[in-house]
Amino acid sequence: MWKFNNPVNILFGEGSLSTLGQQLNNRRYAVVTYDNAHFAAIATEIKAQCPGCVTVFNQVAENPDLADLEAICAAFKPHQNEIEVLVALGGGSVIDTTKALAVAKDDHRVIANVLKQHAPVENPLPMIVIPTTTGTGSEVTSWATIWDKDSGCKYSLNDSALFPEAAICDPTLTLELPVSLTIQTGLDALSHAMESIWNRNANPISLMYATEAIALIRETLPKLVNEPSNLDLREKMMKGSLLAGLAFSNTKTSIAHNMSYAVTLETGLPHGIACSFTLPAVLCSFAFSECPTAQSLRQLFGDDINAAAKELESWIHKLNVHTSPEHYGYNKEKWQQIVTDALDGERGKNFPGCSQQLLNQFI
Ligand SMILES: NC(=O)c1ccc[n+]([C@@H]2O[C@H](COP(=O)([O-])OP(=O)(O)OC[C@H]3O[C@@H](n4cnc5c(N)ncnc54)[C@H](O)[C@@H]3O)[C@@H](O)[C@H]2O)c1
Ligand SMILES: [Zn+2]
Repeated sequence: MWKFNNPVNILFGEGSLSTLGQQLNNRRYAVVTYDNAHFAAIATEIKAQCPGCVTVFNQVAENPDLADLEAICAAFKPHQNEIEVLVALGGGSVIDTTKALAVAKDDHRVIANVLKQHAPVENPLPMIVIPTTTGTGSEVTSWATIWDKDSGCKYSLNDSALFPEAAICDPTLTLELPVSLTIQTGLDALSHAMESIWNRNANPISLMYATEAIALIRETLPKLVNEPSNLDLREKMMKGSLLAGLAFSNTKTSIAHNMSYAVTLETGLPHGIACSFTLPAVLCSFAFSECPTAQSLRQLFGDDINAAAKELESWIHKLNVHTSPEHYGYNKEKWQQIVTDALDGERGKNFPGCSQQLLNQFI
């Protein structure tokens, strides 16, 4: 038996931002976004178009940390009786901060209780999410990544009540995303799609979304690097990221993500690079397998998984991204430890492949 559920109302395409008023339906809202002029200007436009804005929260830190949530919860406090819905305008850091705020409201300690003491998520505020990067898929997932650099941990705030009410995916908002961030977030999306395939929770619907996402991202990302202002390509990349998001919204991620968290915490390597530089090696670990995952991979990449992994590696290299752990400061011994720990981690347990075959890729 398998099941698939995603309740997010998706509004996709150029100009879809203009549907925000309809989605708000006369509710009082707050915008959550980054603290910079570019996003302040878009928030001002939103306020002008959609009546009912109570305030704009810009206390968002990149890779939100438990410690960062105190400021935004304090800012929420004076407005707690007015805000009926949160509008997230930004990439994964904004969307995940919004999910945390929806749960914590005026008391940041609630998040630590949920993450560390497994307290239940109670009555989160509804959210409308407007992604401005093309990678995390957080607009269609029910979890948020919250970091805790003090204790060297990465937490997942995870509850079905955290699916956004609506995702407004307007590619015009990504036209100014710098090329380096386009590559990083695009590789994150590719990783989500691939990780949903080598995953114990894979199912026919997640496979369908992942297949389409991988084809779109592989075709579009290299072109986008050369033509970052091409709206058609931006739209294709946004679709690829969304479909990858839908795929992993029901499977969660797997071993490449679990290896990445240690790397990001130790070295600060951006999430999109950390979770994707190992993809060729993970793919290659299925080369001699006949398991159902290997069969799905052969349907997608052809009979020769080894050759497909090499092709993927050179595709990643053309984006100027290195694929060896050594490049990121890991010798063989240290890397084997990362892989072993990751196989044991929560997401690593989703990996249906052979641990030894995976370790062999790095010897
Ligand atoms: N919840 C999930 O399902 C999920 C999945 C993957 C990653 N994540 C998390 O998301 C975070 C990363 O998010 P991200 O990769 O989207 O990046 P981000 O939100 O951290 O943003 C990175 C930078 O891009 C800039 N930026 C964003 N949109 C822009 C635009 N349209 N134009 C110009 N600049 C823009 C921001 O100002 C910021 O400086 C990490 O913390 C990661 O762990 C969450
Ligand atoms: Zn990711």
